[in-house]
Amino acid sequence: MKIQIITLFPDMFPGVFNASMLWKAQDRKLVEISYIDLRQFGHGPRKQVDDTPYGGGDGMLLKVDPLVEAIELAKKNDPTAVVILPTPRGKTYKQSDSKRLAAAQNGLIFVCGRYEGYDERVTNWVDEQFSIGNYVLTGGELPTMVIADSVIRLIPGVLGGENSVEFESFQQDDNNIEFPQYTRPEEFRGLKVPDVLLSGHHAEIEKWRIQESSKMSEK
Ligand code: ADE
Repeated sequence: MKIQIITLFPDMFPGVFNASMLWKAQDRKLVEISYIDLRQFGHGPRKQVDDTPYGGGDGMLLKVDPLVEAIELAKKNDPTAVVILPTPRGKTYKQSDSKRLAAAQNGLIFVCGRYEGYDERVTNWVDEQFSIGNYVLTGGELPTMVIADSVIRLIPGVLGGENSVEFESFQQDDNNIEFPQYTRPEEFRGLKVPDVLLSGHHAEIEKWRIQESSKMSEK
């Protein structure tokens, strides 16, 4: 899967993408991540990518023309890729979206907004708009990392044990939270591992895990 990220701040990404499973996914050629520096598409001697809003208001908006030219370049590299715009105004991103995007196997093009916003006309070149929660971040870079991480880990071969993906949170539906897990020692500062997990009784363990999952989703 090709992932292309259009951003003014490509330096924000390698720390996240070049570690752990995301690095392994690239090393195994299961994903290829590249960056398109929006600044290259800026106009004039200052390579301007932002401008003041029509109708007045604070701050600057990303201009539509550099954004669209960058998207067009990314589309030329990967014509069937899905164009994603992270925005607090998008629909809330869910595990079902990450499953759908991973299963489709199309490439992804992320468009990272910055500053106080972007010219709305760019949305004509965008397939999906996602919010990662009801709060406002300084730009689309962090949401891009979140969304890309959640898709990449579902690509077959990225995680070692395929089981760990199958059994974990959110797999059946978006509200099904994972059960609690424990490892050695059996007792830590008076805190004990639940007896049922030490019992070796698989049916009981399964029942307990199901109960605990529904308890956690009520919190
Ligand atoms: N850009 C700024 N805040 C955001 C959010 N909460 N979700 C997605 N994109 C954003």
